[in-house]
Amino acid sequence: MKILVINGPNINFLGIREPDIYGKNTFRDLLQLLDKTAQELGLEIEQYQSNHEGDLVDKIQWAYGKVDGIVINPAAYTHTSVAILDALKAVGLPAVEVHISDVDSREAFRQVSYAGLACCKTIKGHGLDGYREAIVYLNDQLSHK
Ligand code: DQA
Repeated sequence: MKILVINGPNINFLGIREPDIYGKNTFRDLLQLLDKTAQELGLEIEQYQSNHEGDLVDKIQWAYGKVDGIVINPAAYTHTSVAILDALKAVGLPAVEVHISDVDSREAFRQVSYAGLACCKTIKGHGLDGYREAIVYLNDQLSHK
């Protein structure tokens, strides 16, 4: 089984950006957590991060026929991007949305998620652990198909 983990803009600045909101763990820590999770569950995880909306759309399209599921944190594009929503719908792969922070308790504009409309589950406010939870969830869903 192969899962693609996609991260949007500024996630590569984890540990530097607003640590009071996103925590002190770095992007490198996130990559290590993904490797560890892949080993634990015996699956393949590919990671992709970009600050550019079109590149994120390209990567979602690339995933068609190549991976079994997608974990996505579209970051700020969550709240603006119909293109990412349409790409997720186009490929039709099971997808889980992750947010490190609890977007529901933040500004009103963060409470709208376009990408989430194409996801079977959303995990928010669990820090980096949310990625692990999303992968475990997808693994369970896909194993029981
Ligand atoms: C985020 C929440 C978004 O509102 C924000 O723009 C991000 C990160 C999160 O993981 O909590 O960049 O997706």
